[in-house]
Amino acid sequence: MCGIIGYVGNKKASNILIDGLLALEYRGYDSAGIATLENNEIKIMKDKGRVKNILDLDGYDKLQGTYGIAHTRWATHGKPSKENSHPHFDNSNTFAVVHNGIIENYNELRAFLAEKGYTFYSQTDTEVIPNLIHYYYTNIEETDKSDTDKTLRAVAEATKDLKGSYAIEVISPLMPNTIIVGRKDSPLVIGTKSDENYIASDIPALLTYTKDFYLLNDNELAVITKDSISFYNTDLEKHSKNIKNIEWDASAAEKNGYEDYMLKEIFEQPNSIRETVGSRLKLNEPVNFDDLDIKPEYLKNINKIFIVACGTAMHAGLVGKVLLEKLCKIPTEVDIASEFRYRDPIIDDKTLCIYVSQSGETADTIAALKLSREKGAKTLAISNVIGSSITREADYTIYTHAGPEIAVASTKAYTSQVVLFAVLAIHFSELLGYSDSDITINSNGDTIKLEDLKNDIINLPKKLAIVLENTDLIKEFAENAYTEKDMFFLGRGIDETVAKEGSLKLKEISYIHSEAYAAGELKHGPIALIENGIHVISILTDESLAKKTISNIQEVITRGAKTMVITNQNLEGHTFDYVIEIPKICPLISPILSVVPLQLLSYYISKNKGLDVDKPRNLAKSVTVE
Ligand code: G6P
Repeated sequence: MCGIIGYVGNKKASNILIDGLLALEYRGYDSAGIATLENNEIKIMKDKGRVKNILDLDGYDKLQGTYGIAHTRWATHGKPSKENSHPHFDNSNTFAVVHNGIIENYNELRAFLAEKGYTFYSQTDTEVIPNLIHYYYTNIEETDKSDTDKTLRAVAEATKDLKGSYAIEVISPLMPNTIIVGRKDSPLVIGTKSDENYIASDIPALLTYTKDFYLLNDNELAVITKDSISFYNTDLEKHSKNIKNIEWDASAAEKNGYEDYMLKEIFEQPNSIRETVGSRLKLNEPVNFDDLDIKPEYLKNINKIFIVACGTAMHAGLVGKVLLEKLCKIPTEVDIASEFRYRDPIIDDKTLCIYVSQSGETADTIAALKLSREKGAKTLAISNVIGSSITREADYTIYTHAGPEIAVASTKAYTSQVVLFAVLAIHFSELLGYSDSDITINSNGDTIKLEDLKNDIINLPKKLAIVLENTDLIKEFAENAYTEKDMFFLGRGIDETVAKEGSLKLKEISYIHSEAYAAGELKHGPIALIENGIHVISILTDESLAKKTISNIQEVITRGAKTMVITNQNLEGHTFDYVIEIPKICPLISPILSVVPLQLLSYYISKNKGLDVDKPRNLAKSVTVE
């Protein structure tokens, strides 16, 4: 989704702005632009298409300015085109603005400005912002103020008029060597160094320059020069802010010899799982979350948990539900954030709402969190990004510590979210005082011991490494199946949640239509679509359900389907076209192993089709608008 970069310092800004935009490419975009300022004149270079296209624009190599703003646009209002690309000018070419987010009342603001004589040259919602700034600037009465102060006042007044979400950067010849930024419900960070400051939509884009960041809050403005940063609220009251040191290593956001980020991230999973579990979980000791202070008295009072998220994070939540219900016996529902926020959910102070978001910036998830807080529930954020918006809004936060995830299709973030749910559920179970015999894991009444589950969690990295060694069959399947138009994913119980994630991965990066179904539901409709040669992929890791799922697979084989089974069960006496064996593990955390062949499958299919794995069409890494 739209990305923002800014630089103010002593170096040539254009190169830094382009490098920053390239680092943000993974977020997804369809046009790009930069603006620098020199000799009292703003120079804008922008066009639809890739960031690299800017380098070929007339005059790019002559840009000398030492500060500027830049943007990658993911079209919302108006098609991808040069006119709709950012930065946008006001009518007098005095203020150049880039904007991430959606201005919901832009039609009203456009009408207001049109009445005052302003003309619009794009279809974007953004273009109202520089013109509003100009409008307020020309109507400021205090003549004693400096141009920078007047611009700041105009920006503050303009942002007060904006409904919706925004992260903005503003430059103007009226305030040399200065960038004004502001945000509400859209991410923006400021990376700081001596004698230069950087601005970006997310931290990884700036890690090669600095590890010291200011994280801008909602309704906060900052005036940035090369050696100063001043923070204000929209009433222009000044305040100070602490620097946050980010431990991520810049090389963690590079490919390190892998062909694509996604492949690198898939293979990083043994390590990312190790990092997520960290010192939180040890054998024969209660789970210890340094970063979570939830008391047993509070938990005992909770009668409902909601897990709310989008996309892959929501699929991790589906596993979280099983873990929390089995280990803590608290009814748990999983909701898609964009639905939850509008469905008037029943929430009160006995509800715990858990929000899962890799980026911590997904607009719907943040809005849902705010809603549940207003209704009196406590909120717990699970995020991968330190200081992200969701973590600043929630009552409690726990981090996945999976390292930066760059590929649009989420892989290591998912497995880290799932394992974190497992550790959290054990923690809650211990706080609630459940003994091992209380923990039944299936309808047969089989029980597990928490210590055994802990042991399985500790052994996950080794078992993941085994799964990652066996890619030959998956590659073969991908070579045979990449021209398919449809596929099916089946599973029961926790395996169905993995089927959903496998199906999503395939859609996201291979553009192949697929359906994920609870295997037992097949007969109620989808079996009508099973015909000769169709590929059906099943997940089978729960012994208590294995026979049932096998029967369902037989039903599709009878109708001519080609089958792949991902399993840790004994399948003697049954024949499938492909069997991917994975190590045995407690079924409650089996998705962490069984999802990996599916991640690899969609990866290899996408490669066979010659697609851009890391930047699939129309998708964005971080969906910061509704
Ligand atoms: C987008 C991404 C997905 C991700 C989802 C939720 O759709 O392409 O990979 O799962 O957003 O993102 P979040 O950052 O909230 O986990």
